[in-house]
Amino acid sequence: MAENLIISEGGKSNRYPVLYDQIKTVIENEYDIIADMANIAAMIHQTFGFLWTGFYRVVGEELVLGPFQGPMACSRIGFGKGVCGTAWKEARTVIVPDVDAFPGHIACSSDSRSEIVVPVFSKDGDEVTAVLDIDSIETATFDDTDREWLEKIASLIQKTGA
Ligand code: SME
Repeated sequence: MAENLIISEGGKSNRYPVLYDQIKTVIENEYDIIADMANIAAMIHQTFGFLWTGFYRVVGEELVLGPFQGPMACSRIGFGKGVCGTAWKEARTVIVPDVDAFPGHIACSSDSRSEIVVPVFSKDGDEVTAVLDIDSIETATFDDTDREWLEKIASLIQKTGA
């Protein structure tokens, strides 16, 4: 793997394919899912400069904070709670253009204005094992391009998972 992250120029449509290829290389070279999550959070964060980029893992009845980049965050989120708990419960990506308009949003940082949460599935695809959560300081940051590529990244992790 290249030692330094390559960040391509231009908008997200240019950046995601390059990021995706680099994440694929990281995952192919490391089977430990926590190590992979740590590097993936760092790579997404470094590429886009979001407020917060990280993972919550399903541990028993809760989501527990995993590897992340950005300000400190709440450690545990219940099933169906907040944006993360909703993505877990509904097993689907949730895009929130304005967090103030999402009932039950959990404000880990008062600077967060919009958010996307993408589920990571078990290898057999039967259950959600983690979520990838990204927060932005601007409203309406995330769209179908983010959904498409972040879901592709989540599928790479799925292949590593239990
Ligand atoms: N806003 C999230 C909580 C996690 S932080 O954003 C890092 C939510 O509503 O689930």
